[in-house]
Amino acid sequence: MRLTGTGHASVRIDTAAGSILCDPWVNPAYFASWFPFPDNSELDWETLGDTDYLYVSHLHRDHFDPEHLRRYISKRATVLLPEFPTSELEDQLRDIGFTRFIRTRTNEPVELDGGLRIMIQALTSPTDGPIGDSSLWVEYGGIRLLNQNDARPTDLSEFAKLGHVHAHLLQFSGAIWYPMVYELPKHAKTAFGKQKRERQLDRTLRYIEDLKASWVFPIAGPPCFLDDELWEFNDLGGDEGNIFPDQQAFLDHYHGLGHNNAVILLPGTVAEVTADDCRVTHPVPDVREFFARKEEYLRDYQRRMRPVIEAAKASWARPHVDVLAELKRRVEPLLEQSVYMAKGIGGPVRFDLTDEAGETVESIVIDFATREVRPYADEKVRYRFKTRRALVENLLDSGEVDWVNSLFLSCRFSAARIGQYNEFVYSFFKCLSQERLQYAEGWYDEHERAVEAEEIRIGDWYVQRRCPHLKADLSRFAKIEGDTLTCQMHGWRFDLRTGRCLTSVGKTLRCRPAEPADAGVGGDRGSSAAAS
Ligand code: FES
Repeated sequence: MRLTGTGHASVRIDTAAGSILCDPWVNPAYFASWFPFPDNSELDWETLGDTDYLYVSHLHRDHFDPEHLRRYISKRATVLLPEFPTSELEDQLRDIGFTRFIRTRTNEPVELDGGLRIMIQALTSPTDGPIGDSSLWVEYGGIRLLNQNDARPTDLSEFAKLGHVHAHLLQFSGAIWYPMVYELPKHAKTAFGKQKRERQLDRTLRYIEDLKASWVFPIAGPPCFLDDELWEFNDLGGDEGNIFPDQQAFLDHYHGLGHNNAVILLPGTVAEVTADDCRVTHPVPDVREFFARKEEYLRDYQRRMRPVIEAAKASWARPHVDVLAELKRRVEPLLEQSVYMAKGIGGPVRFDLTDEAGETVESIVIDFATREVRPYADEKVRYRFKTRRALVENLLDSGEVDWVNSLFLSCRFSAARIGQYNEFVYSFFKCLSQERLQYAEGWYDEHERAVEAEEIRIGDWYVQRRCPHLKADLSRFAKIEGDTLTCQMHGWRFDLRTGRCLTSVGKTLRCRPAEPADAGVGGDRGSSAAAS
């Protein structure tokens, strides 16, 4: 099985029974904020795009690049579709010109021609991608690959039970706006960023340890930021709180822990994976030297992309849009129907809209308690966003239903909040359509019931088995220190004395101390060891 690195989360998989191109992304995403790193625009896309199968893991713009798909990817390719709750991915690919689809069922292997087998696992919580993310498993000639990309399954057992995996591709770097956009003192931002950086590396290591693949390929990030306004987000080695470590930084960390089976996939790297070997050819003479000169490389990339960024910026404004009136028209009907998300947010969210000079020209409140959109009235709010009016005009004018997959991932905003993170805020802003809102509300309804159900013992505590966040199995992901339980899936912490979530508002963990007489209770799934 041959893997060719095609940049960021993208890879082409070649076997004698056919080729699969995954997540080709080339054009800048999220209001020209994210660019692939390293630059992959010079690859021979005519040849790479002549593929038998196309796999787009989800609709995030650094995985789904409509312009590139339209121009370079063969419309004869058969699309391998994850089982997502809405048909948006298929609809958008049809619009681009693809006509052949295989609709997979989650966790069910599919036999393709010539002995090629695949399986796609779809994750479908409102916080997984834009309502859906997925991983692709491939087998040919006894060689197995898992392209986990940036999906975060609660465990990898569905893949592991299909046999030893030889190549495991997964995310290791950050892909979010936290904590950079928060209006916090520098030292607090650094501390939160450092924590986040450590947590994402820990999570990656946990997945690697779980699957025990022969070879590990760190992919799906980081992007690079070429606009001067965002340049500081690039990890150039001077900020321990930067959440975007690059592939070499991961490799150094991984090697430091005594592992030597990781392979960097630069755009153009070719890795021939066999049962007991992985032969790698890179497009540069010295990979370490390439990363050592990252700043110089990025400055040159920035010079080349400056006209692209300037053109994008010039296209954003839609001055004819009456933001308040349009927000009312779009959002109030959704507020009316929202039960879980509106209750979870519970109060007003303020948007300060600025002109090009950064001066606030309009302040609007979306009030989840009274379910209305209105001008800000000098009131106390728990959540505030500040961004350019031009960007919001653009989102409203284009009918964007997912502000996470556009505004928030652009990092072109600042945020302030009183209290803890509230996942419902961001879930709501990715559900600005009837279809998405209904799905998310239904999911929360079902989820609330499911997480309550089962109880396990971990060390000296009984706790509900499923994490109140996204249902991770706490017998595997919990770590208890003192009276605090941390779910290592996303780092949410709970006070075991009260059950209160210390990370996010509105969540509690059902828990109670185990009595001494309980020692040795049968069915104790969470021993101290499991919780270590
Ligand atoms: S599942 Fe996200 S923190 Fe537990």
